[in-house]
Amino acid sequence: MCGIFGIINQNEKILGPTLIEACKRLSYRGYDSVGCATMDEKWTIDLRKDAGKVEEVSQKLLFSEMKGFSGIAQLRWATFGAPSQVNAQPHFDSAKELFGAHNGNVVNNIQLREMFLKEGMTVRSTNDGESCVHSVEYFIKRGFETEEAVRRATTLLEGDYAFLLARKGEKKIYAVKKGSGLVIGIGEDGNYVSSDLPSLLFLTRKIIRVEDGEMAILEPSKVTIKKIEDGSIVKREVEKIEEEMESAKKGGFSHFMLKEIYEQPKVAMDLLHLLNASPIIEKFIEKLSNARNIYFIGCGTSYHACLFGAVAFAQYSKIPVIPILAPQFIAQYLPTASQRDIGVFVSQSGETKDVLRALELAKEKKMQALGLVNVLGSSLMKMSDFYLPLACGYEISVPATKTFINQSLTFLYLAAKMGGMDTSLLMDFPKAIQETLSKSEKTVREVIPIIKNYDEYYCLGYGFTYPIALEGALKIKEVTYCHCEGMLSTEFKHGPLSSVRENYPIIFVVSKTDIPVALSGINEVSCRGGTTIVISTEDERLKLNSKKIIAIPPCNDLFFSLVSVVPLQLLAYYSSVEKGYDPDFPRNLSKTLTVD
Ligand code: G6P
Repeated sequence: MCGIFGIINQNEKILGPTLIEACKRLSYRGYDSVGCATMDEKWTIDLRKDAGKVEEVSQKLLFSEMKGFSGIAQLRWATFGAPSQVNAQPHFDSAKELFGAHNGNVVNNIQLREMFLKEGMTVRSTNDGESCVHSVEYFIKRGFETEEAVRRATTLLEGDYAFLLARKGEKKIYAVKKGSGLVIGIGEDGNYVSSDLPSLLFLTRKIIRVEDGEMAILEPSKVTIKKIEDGSIVKREVEKIEEEMESAKKGGFSHFMLKEIYEQPKVAMDLLHLLNASPIIEKFIEKLSNARNIYFIGCGTSYHACLFGAVAFAQYSKIPVIPILAPQFIAQYLPTASQRDIGVFVSQSGETKDVLRALELAKEKKMQALGLVNVLGSSLMKMSDFYLPLACGYEISVPATKTFINQSLTFLYLAAKMGGMDTSLLMDFPKAIQETLSKSEKTVREVIPIIKNYDEYYCLGYGFTYPIALEGALKIKEVTYCHCEGMLSTEFKHGPLSSVRENYPIIFVVSKTDIPVALSGINEVSCRGGTTIVISTEDERLKLNSKKIIAIPPCNDLFFSLVSVVPLQLLAYYSSVEKGYDPDFPRNLSKTLTVD
């Protein structure tokens, strides 16, 4: 998702390196274009932008030499208008007196552009960030001071967004928050603003969080926060951030994805300690025990964790749960929802719009909303009645790995506890992941030659491993750009079997209890010439019937299936690297999707 960053200093200086660094730190959110604009003491605005990666564009356009007393940088992830130089941000107003950039989505962009053109304004792009700047211009043209024009601009802009704006002749940056993230950084000789906290920590540890419906006016030596609605001043304390950014560095690994896969034993252990000590667990359990219907709601990887959680609840606590993709929840279950129902909303970022929308509507129906969230301070955290943190630290790589593990582990823990089982058995889970990581890596790499010439294949699971197969297939799709379809293994014979030909690869993820069912499926493929790769225990029957086994070291049945996602994560990672792709930032994808 897009990211914005702004800096304002007392004196003119070289700002390029700071803007580049901020862009790099925002880049984990996913983007396709980058731009910077600075303003100097003579009120000259220097705006440079293009489609491409931060490194390429900043070198090509010499961002490092940009100077001034204020600057705005933006990373764009295309929604309105193709990724291109003209659609990249920041944008000017008609007379090039204002410049600004946004994050989020202005949904009435097309209507606004028509209106601005009728007004005689110069509209240069099809991007909705430009509409933010023209909306301010619209009110300046009507005689309002900048601050009031910025405030009124929000009455034209529909959607969820945050935007930054600067004007010639003023030593100020105006920042508005309506639905997208915005954090202020207080520096020694200047102030900063950004879409998120990690991109500010290299500059300052003193921050102020801006809330929805507020605007901030940044000056070199002060920051004023006001309510957009009536312009009244908001008093907010400066927070001191102690958190280390160490976890946001690669720490010797070639990619964040691999680093995060290898962090899984540690974050799982951290989570288990936290769950064992958490007073919220009892509240969660009490709510879940008394609910009429329980929905586990999420998108993408988080949805797969919901699916895994639903199997765990059925198996261990004997409680039926409906796992559902957030937008489909609205169509399928919202009409019958009531205060007797509970939604557990699951999101790594806590900002996925599809999830927040479902949550908002669920609350209108008086449903109770619990959250599983990794990013503290996120919208999901604030909107949930109460929440459990996933304790994974920053997940930088776009494909989620460690957060899937901890989301699923949280559900497993709750299911076991509610089923009266001994949750201390789960304390062996981190060790099982650790062993799987060290023992399966070599075999996983041996599988790459088997799959590398295919740009479509299948990953099948059954029961507990069905969500794992879906998640593995998603990881492969995300980072190798191949279509790997995740499916219930027993469904394969009802159609997809026709794709099997000589050597065609099929991955089976098999839990110990489901080996007999899997053997039928495996043979249906191999007798037609297909190559079967099995992720399971080192079972003689599986060995005899399949081409390759990726063995999960012996571990408790309670979490065996969850551990089997690890070789799939590694397979996706190494296949991506083999193809020369960057698994951390796959094309077209974004870590945090704050759009419809
Ligand atoms: C995006 C990411 C996925 C993620 C999904 C849900 O599409 O690329 O990796 O699973 O959003 O994200 P959330 O933050 O809500 O878990």
